[in-house]
Amino acid sequence: MKMTNRWNLLIYRLWAPIYDTTVNRIFMAGRQRAIQLLDLKRGEQVLIPGVGTGADLPLLPEGVDVTGIDLSPEMLAEARLKLDRRPAAVKLIEGDAQTLLVEPGSFDAVILNLILSVIPDGNACLQSALRALKPNGRVVIFDKFLAEGATISIARRLMNLFSTVLGTDINRRLSDLMMGCPCEVTHDEPGILGGMYRVILLGKTHRGPTK
Ligand SMILES: C[S@@+](CC[C@H](N)C(=O)[O-])C[C@H]1O[C@@H](n2cnc3c(N)ncnc32)[C@H](O)[C@@H]1O
Repeated sequence: MKMTNRWNLLIYRLWAPIYDTTVNRIFMAGRQRAIQLLDLKRGEQVLIPGVGTGADLPLLPEGVDVTGIDLSPEMLAEARLKLDRRPAAVKLIEGDAQTLLVEPGSFDAVILNLILSVIPDGNACLQSALRALKPNGRVVIFDKFLAEGATISIARRLMNLFSTVLGTDINRRLSDLMMGCPCEVTHDEPGILGGMYRVILLGKTHRGPTK
């Protein structure tokens, strides 16, 4: 099954009330590491496409300005509940993170935790995030990707049918998502679940990588 906005709206309406108390517990170590690697400084502008229930928000340092975008009103409603637990300014926007909804070149850092494997077109999401970044901006990604060069087994295809119904695609390659994007990998380390999830830093460049 291909991920679509229509399906995501439905499935994340169902996830919203239970996301923080179920799957998010598994993800905490990975997202903490991602934010540590981003090394945010006071006064920096941070964009979070697919901010979801705002699980990253309480982990951000004081004094950063945050803009979070999400398609799901129910996930955003959960994120709003966390706003009194963090002092930095947070703006939440309901919308499609595949389309640029913010001022181009205005962000120092972008957090793409658990979104590139969910959003229908991960490449469009990354392109749009990079357009929003300042020239020397950086992106952190905590997510699961198919190993480069690995073929997709029948078992994995079947598992993916199940996982896409639950709202995530396990068969995406980072190199495909980065095609034509003006960025390069500056750091890549195994994250949780034996390296199935990775924590990756990207730096913005002038030209995109080719395959
Ligand atoms: C697995 S959750 C991750 C949420 C959050 N980034 C985190 O780390 O917990 C995926 C999120 O992507 C959102 N999403 C899916 N498609 C989207 C789109 N086209 N634009 C913006 N957000 C989208 C969903 O509503 C959901 O909140």
